[in-house]
Amino acid sequence: MKNSSYEVVVIGAGPAGYVCAIRCAQLGMKVACADQWSDKNNKPSPGGTCLNVGCIPSKALLDSSHHYSFFAQEAKQHGLKCEQLTVDVAKMQQRKDKVVKTLTTGVKGLLKKNGIDLLHGTASIKNRNLISIAGPDKTSEIKTEKIIIATGSKPFELGFLPVDQQSIVDSTGALELGQVPARLGVIGAGVIGLEMASIWNRLGADVTIWEAEQQFLPLVDRDIAAQASKLLAKQGIKIVLDCKVKQAEKNADEIVVHVTDSEGDSTTIVDCLLVAVGRVANTENLGLEQIGVAVDERGFVEVNEDWQTNVTGIYAIGDVIGGAMLAHKGSEEGVALAEKLAGQSGHVNYNAIPWVIYTWPEIAWTGQTEETLRSQGINYNVGTFPFMALGRARAMGDVDGLIKLVADAENDRLLGAHIIGPNASELIAEAVVAIEAELTAEDLARTIHGHPTLAEGLHEAALALDNRAIHI
Ligand code: FAD
Ligand code: NAI
Repeated sequence: MKNSSYEVVVIGAGPAGYVCAIRCAQLGMKVACADQWSDKNNKPSPGGTCLNVGCIPSKALLDSSHHYSFFAQEAKQHGLKCEQLTVDVAKMQQRKDKVVKTLTTGVKGLLKKNGIDLLHGTASIKNRNLISIAGPDKTSEIKTEKIIIATGSKPFELGFLPVDQQSIVDSTGALELGQVPARLGVIGAGVIGLEMASIWNRLGADVTIWEAEQQFLPLVDRDIAAQASKLLAKQGIKIVLDCKVKQAEKNADEIVVHVTDSEGDSTTIVDCLLVAVGRVANTENLGLEQIGVAVDERGFVEVNEDWQTNVTGIYAIGDVIGGAMLAHKGSEEGVALAEKLAGQSGHVNYNAIPWVIYTWPEIAWTGQTEETLRSQGINYNVGTFPFMALGRARAMGDVDGLIKLVADAENDRLLGAHIIGPNASELIAEAVVAIEAELTAEDLARTIHGHPTLAEGLHEAALALDNRAIHI
């Protein structure tokens, strides 16, 4: 039997909301977490975008397609012959769905273990202490002392291009395709565009990406972005920059895409078109206007440094407040907010967030880029090391890419790390710890790294900052 009165109600069980709810419960609060996500049987499916249609299913398909491309293209060099390699998309999707189900069931278990009531339904805030939850069977009202909004984000839609999740899809539809499209068009060369392009290109789709910006991956270090552009082109992904998709017509079994770029107007025919042009805050029907919670001009909920909105007792975390739209950023905000509510000193270091783009090679970075340091007038030194000079990368057969470390010229503090290479997603963690702990490049240079490992590249890049790299 669910209670009808709580100390804290978290709206949204994504990585921001469910983690916050668990930390609140660990700190002794009486907590409920409301979430509207349903599985195929109309049962609750906590985990938010991340577990249901984001991080996890995309990485499941990225891993499956990576294995396929290994067997299709590289296995021969390892002396492995695979003569009848085929793609079974239905099976691949079943595996992905099973991974999602296992993890969402796991979150249900974690909530239960921590004594948190999972309330299945769409929440709307009636007043500071009252929330209505419209569930599949009935609507109920619950009282609470504090409300935490963690309702996440949803894909931004282009007005002229309604998504049907069949042949014109957003990221959710792109994760559900039942077959490999012969020709895939992608609008937006951001994180989602590149990851989805990688999945379907590896499995055989002919992929074209149209990007409005002149620069490819403008937030990424310039050397890393240049390498990424070259390597993705080598894989057969066409990326057209500085262009505009003006219109697209859906015919019986194909889509005609009208594009304008510096060379004029052109049309391209595709079988599937993915719209991946960013995400917007999910605040629909939450009742924010009614109770006066302020949102910014882009619709993100405004909060102060304690994640408090302008209405006393109402807080917000995760994608719904904008900034880095990343699962781990939301989770850390959830932990820090719970600790603040318990009178502790929760803290999030927004300067030490790892970013990863799961292309292959992977792209990962943290801290400052050379560009941001130059704009702040900070003097810095750079050390780089290529993967091709690493024994482990050679043994793996993954030699593309480099590691770049940036350190303060005055005190040698590590300010940024930028990687394109195999397992960059894992390697970046060392640099995040170093920045969080305010270590110097010399600290990394004097730390013993196992041999042969890819992490030796970080060691060598740190040595290179002082012109004493050994293996280059
Ligand atoms: P969400 O995960 O969006 O969760 C919000 C929850 O609130 C949802 O369950 C929703 O149903 C619920 N909700 C909304 N409104 C209501 C309401 N009124 N009542 C009840 N419930 C409500 N990030 C990474 O860090 N790494 C990745 O590899 C990665 N890959 C991604 C791949 C894709 C394809 C996408 C789309 C995103 C990816 N992200 C990734 C981003 C990541 O998914 C988000 O940053 C993260 O999920 C945000 O967490 P959140 O808890 O703030 O919101
Ligand atoms: P994004 O902001 O990363 O990229 C959107 C791209 O679309 C931008 O490059 C933008 O210039 C371009 N664009 C916008 N309008 C356009 C138009 N009309 N025509 C052509 N191009 C246009 O957003 P994306 O890829 O949708 O991802 C949303 C968020 O989800 C990301 O910011 C990221 O935080 C999160 N995410 C994280 C992942 C990870 O951590 N690996 C994976 C996937 C998503």
